[in-house]
Amino acid sequence: MESLHIQRRGEALEFSYDIVWEKGFAGIAPCIRQLSLAARKACVVTDSQVGELYLPEIMEHLSGCFSQTDSFVFPAGEENKTLHTVQSLYEFLIGKKYERRDLLIALGGGVVGDLTGFSAATYLRGIDFIQVPTTLLAQVDSSIGGKTGVDFSKYKNMVGAFYQPRLVYMNMEVLRSLPERQFAGGMGEVLKTALIRDKSFYSWILENQAGINQRDPDLLSSMIRRCCEIKAAVVEEDPKEQGVRAVLNLGHTLGHAVEKLKDFRLQHGECVALGTSAAAYLSLKRGFISKEEYESVLRGIAAFHLPSHVSGLRAEEILQASKSDKKMESGKIKFILLHPLGRAVIDPTVSDEEILEAVRTIQKSGEDTI
Ligand code: GLY
Repeated sequence: MESLHIQRRGEALEFSYDIVWEKGFAGIAPCIRQLSLAARKACVVTDSQVGELYLPEIMEHLSGCFSQTDSFVFPAGEENKTLHTVQSLYEFLIGKKYERRDLLIALGGGVVGDLTGFSAATYLRGIDFIQVPTTLLAQVDSSIGGKTGVDFSKYKNMVGAFYQPRLVYMNMEVLRSLPERQFAGGMGEVLKTALIRDKSFYSWILENQAGINQRDPDLLSSMIRRCCEIKAAVVEEDPKEQGVRAVLNLGHTLGHAVEKLKDFRLQHGECVALGTSAAAYLSLKRGFISKEEYESVLRGIAAFHLPSHVSGLRAEEILQASKSDKKMESGKIKFILLHPLGRAVIDPTVSDEEILEAVRTIQKSGEDTI
């Protein structure tokens, strides 16, 4: 078993938990026992796709840890990341008499993790939860750091809470069967993570692109671990995004706008790649990165079969949609730029004209193909 500890201690201990990498789900039972939780009941929350693949197996491993184990399965898809699904989960937990010391386990990708975490944060004013991320995107980003929430009226992650899990348990074998497009989406967050903090890691990713695309287990382990180390360090410094954590939003302001305007038909990681491409262009225009570095960002996006252009959207509507994203401060978009490659800065001074110019670099005219 490999693990990484993440913790923050102010005057008191704010949070402390392990990120654990294993082959298979069997290791989850000993990890849970080590936590010495008071929980008697545990409810695995998952979606219809992931549930079909892994729910029976994980339920079997959990049965020895609790006096009661339940499962709550909701239909897969971003369109179900809503308060309506949360309400159904609350009703389920109330019906099964879940108490404050009981536990939720999020088995799935970002939608499942965010929704389960938010439900855990709010049910009975907060119960424990564990993340079991089953997509690359969730393993390198969304399961770590306690951002939880749901979409609201087409606004992405508009309602939520910062609420840390008690454990993040990753079964590396699930990546073998991950559909191509979901794997690529995860790579969008991997590239982002490297670009904001570690230039040599970014070069390593490009050098190993063939092996990563072939899902070489050793390369994936090293890659995921480095992403988790970077994310853990940022979250330990600024868990509630009062400052530096915003750098993790590289590519997200325009990315979220595209995601919303495309009615969530594009994957989150694909939209992050589009947003990263535009942010890299702005960084180039400001003189923060060189032309070669800008081209290396585009190469990274292409290497992992991510889109660098989007069709069927007007630049103005992308700009307007960006302005309704929650990453605004006093009406200004907090843009994340690269300065230089491998380091990100928060820039609230980017003008509408600059944003429109950057958006035009990712626009593709013609058919709405994606
Ligand atoms: N996904 C960005 C963050 O966790 O802050």
